[in-house]
Amino acid sequence: MKKIAVIYWTGTGNTEAMAHSVADGARTAGAEVAIQCVGDIAADTAAGFDALALGCPAMGAEVLEETEFEPFFAELEPQLGGKTVGLFGSYGWGDGQWMRDWKERTIAAGANLCGEPVMANEAPGVTELDECRALGEALTK
Ligand SMILES: Cc1cc2nc3c(=O)[nH]c(=O)nc-3n(C[C@H](O)[C@H](O)[C@H](O)COP(=O)(O)O)c2cc1C
Repeated sequence: MKKIAVIYWTGTGNTEAMAHSVADGARTAGAEVAIQCVGDIAADTAAGFDALALGCPAMGAEVLEETEFEPFFAELEPQLGGKTVGLFGSYGWGDGQWMRDWKERTIAAGANLCGEPVMANEAPGVTELDECRALGEALTK
């Protein structure tokens, strides 16, 4: 059985709601899923999973959350070669620049994206939650 970790940071719960749908999709597709706040898992442990779903909202000025998520991702980056990864997150007033930059970093690190990143403007609606489930399913293939 494929072991998948869904790892996220959230301030107000929007990215967390997306994380639960990603986890649902992966479980439905038959994966063993661990869902973790980023502060509760080390990058080295994350790197041991078969596939990773990573969720972080746009923070600062179009960057990843800087206190917990950015240091985690920076440590994980050199270990992403050949790893299947899905990205997701919520944003507010921006145009998704944080996600474009994050996608570029992830590809440059040698990861295989399982699909286009899923973004939700503030709270995810039915469409975005369905896209999150589909991301979880795609990670499991
Ligand atoms: C300190 C702070 C910085 C933010 N910076 C951005 C930003 O650069 N671009 C953007 O589109 N939204 C920005 N937002 C909006 C959040 O990304 C948005 O509210 C998102 O839904 C929060 O997700 P969460 O509920 O998972 O924390 C910011 C919000 C906060 C509180």
